[in-house]
Amino acid sequence: MRIENATFVITGAGSGLGSACAERLVAAGGRVVLCDLSEGVQDQARRLGDAAIAVQGDVTSADDIQAVIDAAQAHGDGLAGVIHCAGVVSVAKLVDRHGNPADLDAYARTVQINLVGTFNVMRLAAAAMSQNPPGDDGERGVIINIASVAAFDGQVGQCAYSASKAGVVGMSLPAARELSRHGIRVMAIAPGVFETPMMADIPEDAVAALSQAVPFPKRLGKPDEFARLAEQIITNSMLNGEVIRLDGGIRMQ
Ligand SMILES: NC(=O)c1ccc[n+]([C@@H]2O[C@H](COP(=O)([O-])OP(=O)(O)OC[C@H]3O[C@@H](n4cnc5c(N)ncnc54)[C@H](O)[C@@H]3O)[C@@H](O)[C@H]2O)c1
Repeated sequence: MRIENATFVITGAGSGLGSACAERLVAAGGRVVLCDLSEGVQDQARRLGDAAIAVQGDVTSADDIQAVIDAAQAHGDGLAGVIHCAGVVSVAKLVDRHGNPADLDAYARTVQINLVGTFNVMRLAAAAMSQNPPGDDGERGVIINIASVAAFDGQVGQCAYSASKAGVVGMSLPAARELSRHGIRVMAIAPGVFETPMMADIPEDAVAALSQAVPFPKRLGKPDEFARLAEQIITNSMLNGEVIRLDGGIRMQ
């Protein structure tokens, strides 16, 4: 699939990994529709120029995401792909130090945003892209979801986050199998630890410890390193139905 003059929806585009993907796709000649809960996404679209528009929205809302997809259909020649980066991190022990059980609503909220939100974006994007005229090899679209290494090596306190991301991993193959008949690929990236605002609340000594835990290179990943993998997934049609760890070899303890 080519990026030049093609239109991509990027969720979570107001920050971190999504923002880096927007910059990279526009630099490669693509058009982007940026979706985020935060208002800042409008400024991000303005910075990127005519190739970018922003639609503020919540990935868990059917109406909001349909509006994003409709905007993408009208921004160029129709929707070619989605990079779904919107997500939240959460930490809570099953039983806290006072013996209280974890908050059930907080657990459900993480799963609702990270997992149900992913399904919502995927179903609406796939329905739209299934109507595209076929390109090379009959290809009609590509969906890139974001899991996490926590899907595989979740740490203490990550029951909700790990479960939500393991769900994203679990959907990759059945979704890729089903959408193959429409020429739509589905991939997931499982990042290790990346330098984004999501990490900003973590104390400096904990970030240093995380960097040291990466076999090589001993540092956090840069958002553009993530965006480069997303770009490769878009342009390399043999990548399908797989989850790629992008983590410098880290295995969380
Ligand atoms: N940064 C890391 O180290 C890391 C590691 C593994 C996985 N991830 C995953 O990568 C994705 C992007 O993370 P990031 O580091 O760029 O985080 P970030 O906090 O910088 O960006 C996430 C963006 O998602 C948006 N968002 C949150 N909930 C939303 C909703 N309901 N609807 C629309 N937008 C919403 C936020 O406003 C924010 O702009 C997340 O799914 C995260 O879990 C990040």
